[in-house]
Amino acid sequence: MVISDEAEKLYEIFDSIGITLRKTNKTKSPASTNFSTYDIAFIDIDSEGWEKRVIDLKQYMPVITIGKSDIKKAIKSMKLGATDFLQKPLRNESVKEIFENFKDKPKVEINGLIGISRIMEDVYCGIRKAALTDSNVLITGESGTGKELVARAIHNLSERKENPFIVINCTAIPDTLLESELFGFEKGAFTGANYTKKGLIEWADRGTLFFDEIGDVSPLFQTKILRVIQEGEFIRIGGNHPVKVDVRFIAATNKDLSKACKEGVFREDLFYRLNVIHIEIPPLRSRKEDIPSLTQFFIKKHSAKRKDINIKGITEEALDALMSYSFPGNVRELENIIERAIAFTNSVEITIKDLPAYLLKTQHSKKTPHGNLREAVDNFEKELIWSALQKSRGNISKAAELLGIHRQQLQRKLKQFKIAT
Ligand SMILES: Nc1ncnc2c1ncn2[C@@H]1O[C@H](COP(=O)(O)OP(=O)(O)OP(=O)(O)O)[C@@H](O)[C@H]1O
Ligand SMILES: [Mg+2]
Repeated sequence: MVISDEAEKLYEIFDSIGITLRKTNKTKSPASTNFSTYDIAFIDIDSEGWEKRVIDLKQYMPVITIGKSDIKKAIKSMKLGATDFLQKPLRNESVKEIFENFKDKPKVEINGLIGISRIMEDVYCGIRKAALTDSNVLITGESGTGKELVARAIHNLSERKENPFIVINCTAIPDTLLESELFGFEKGAFTGANYTKKGLIEWADRGTLFFDEIGDVSPLFQTKILRVIQEGEFIRIGGNHPVKVDVRFIAATNKDLSKACKEGVFREDLFYRLNVIHIEIPPLRSRKEDIPSLTQFFIKKHSAKRKDINIKGITEEALDALMSYSFPGNVRELENIIERAIAFTNSVEITIKDLPAYLLKTQHSKKTPHGNLREAVDNFEKELIWSALQKSRGNISKAAELLGIHRQQLQRKLKQFKIAT
């Protein structure tokens, strides 16, 4: 992508070194441009409005600024996020050198994970690093960012891949069943124990054990698993000798565990045991360049559900609407939106009409900052509520707690905003 009065000169230089650049359509507004299809942007800093362009585009691709020899401006462009600066008049060698830098950047794709953003590349590097070791891993990130997917990717790339990957949904096990679920029991351990039962930890032997939602577990749970993680052994209920296991532990949470440690609700020793390798998955709103490829991926994944039409894609307008939305529910929310749109649409491309109304309303409020204040406040409130509902997976009491309001108050709001749960 080239935004410059000297665009033609750049196209010529690239042609001469054997690289054909796709020309940017000048009449198109950046908002309706699918940035994911561009690899690199050249922005002329001798043209009006260049600062905003650098800020806008740097989140989608590396930005190279070009300009006359004005050191101050060149430095400013780097401070705003440009990766490099090229001085005019442009020379073949310097353009070529810059292009080579980016061309040689290794791609670190991971099977099953979609995302081309630089932030996701860091996540992929973390996954590869973790897969090479047996160290415990802590995966953090907001709800719906792909924590379980990342845990599975680590297992599938590791030497343990032929062995089990066991998921423990920590919040689903009450303290009363904890030991029998995790450690199993010996025959005759208690009335009704007519057979010896293996616990989840034993099932994971030689494989990977994934503790999901580790930030929400009881103190008892924390104490019980700390011992297994430290010693690599446990005792079945009714057993009289420890059982040794060879397990790699991965844990995930959307909570801030170091804060929970400071507050005294999470054991510090357990936190350090788990947090040997830390992978943070950023929210979707901070890697919007992943939205087009994820959208296409989910269209492919769900389009077979429509037997009557063959849905192939999404209109630019609808994609723009997705790009302008903040996705409090992250990738899971995007997937739900696409799945729903596939069920609704009457055409081979998803259109703006097939997207949920709340998404268009928040977009509308962003486009008209001078509009009605009440409407703006309502939209803001709706987004907060929607986000809380996503986090609580539709649980109203939990969402009310997250919002710091009473359950009844939230129910009134849901009615007022016609939000179905
Ligand atoms: N990068 C990605 N590429 C493809 N699909 C993804 C990606 N990230 C997330 N998903 C999909 O989004 C959904 C949510 O992902 P996942 O369950 O791993 O999130 P999570 O962080 O564990 O969420 P929660 O905290 O709510 O448990 C899944 O259907 C998953 O396949
Ligand atoms: Mg999960």
